[in-house]
Amino acid sequence: MTATSDIIERHDRFMSNNYARMAVAMARGKGVQLWDADGREYLDLFAGFGGPLLGHCHDELIAALNQQAHKLWHVGNLLHTEPQTLLAQTLSRVAYPGRSFFCHSGADANEAAIKLARLHGKGKRFKVISALMSFHGRTFATMKATGQPKVSQLFEPLAPGFAHVPYNDIAALEKAIDDQTAAVLLEPIQGEAGVIVPDDDYLPRVRALCDRHDLLMMMDEVWTGCGRTGKAFCHQHSGITPDVMTLAKGAGGGLPVGVCHIAQKRAALFDWRTHGMAVHATTLGGNCLGMAVAAEIWRIIERDGLIAHAAAMGDMAKQKLQAANLPGVKQVRGKGMFIGIELTEPKAGDVVKKALAAGLLVNAAQGNVIRLAPALIIDEPTWRHGLDQLIELMR
Ligand SMILES: Cc1ncc(COP(=O)(O)O)c(C=O)c1O
Repeated sequence: MTATSDIIERHDRFMSNNYARMAVAMARGKGVQLWDADGREYLDLFAGFGGPLLGHCHDELIAALNQQAHKLWHVGNLLHTEPQTLLAQTLSRVAYPGRSFFCHSGADANEAAIKLARLHGKGKRFKVISALMSFHGRTFATMKATGQPKVSQLFEPLAPGFAHVPYNDIAALEKAIDDQTAAVLLEPIQGEAGVIVPDDDYLPRVRALCDRHDLLMMMDEVWTGCGRTGKAFCHQHSGITPDVMTLAKGAGGGLPVGVCHIAQKRAALFDWRTHGMAVHATTLGGNCLGMAVAAEIWRIIERDGLIAHAAAMGDMAKQKLQAANLPGVKQVRGKGMFIGIELTEPKAGDVVKKALAAGLLVNAAQGNVIRLAPALIIDEPTWRHGLDQLIELMR
């Protein structure tokens, strides 16, 4: 029995089977390289659904984690700690002036955003409008916000107070707004839908509608945040500022860190002094280990110019993939290091399997889109090599 087959055999006996996993057990990683339990090497072009934003086992993140691990792990949120303060201060600078609530995941961060919408509506307005084909998480409220019935249909009845409109359709959004609407929740690029990039004027027009109707504009940047799209946050491509932004995935570099970042003028919504209680809370949110790593990620991103790097490497990759003129490819799209290759047929799963067999990790969305989202630290020769490999096997 190999190490891999042993792990999989025990997995099959003891693990919940909610994931359709591929038959590989990963044991070790460094940068964009991974090694499985049998020692086989892989090039990681998907970074664990965006988690390891700076690659696997980054030396400086290990050092930050190690240093913090010897100082303090967690004391609860009725006391102050420096690492969470530092991350919140950084987000206020790199995103927009505001206040951060820390939690553990994208769903968790969006739950906080949905609660903000309810508070903003003051009991009279409660509806959150999101987009068809969106993905916002798998908790009871975020499942309902998610515009894909396949995610929620087994779990009815779901949380009330949600409506869905086609993405990138400002007229549909305007029509859906009524006197019960409190907020609009959108991804600036739809990730799970297959890297759908809206028109340049879509988010500015959503902003204007939200202003006109006093709605919270809430941007789900769980996939697109933290430099991935070639800006610190994807909404910055549109020159707008949301009222609320949610982060997870890459924000913790592979540790469970979620963020709900609230614009200054909306921050009173989550103020315990306004509501006379802990209006929202979580025990381990903002723990020192996750926060120390998340803050260090921003120091490295800024020092190493990784946002500009993501923009340049993304442009290069799109050009290269387009120039390859691959048969069966309908469109190559995306921004920065978030790229979708749409196929004319639902064969993305076949490409993923073939790539895995060749030692290349890519992902499939919606059956017909191959997604690439490597760690922002990938160097140009390695990225070019990975793209060449993908192009070759797609031929
Ligand atoms: C845009 C978006 N929001 C929220 C989530 C949920 O994040 P998590 O899996 O961390 O709960 C995801 C997950 O893929 C996502 O893509």
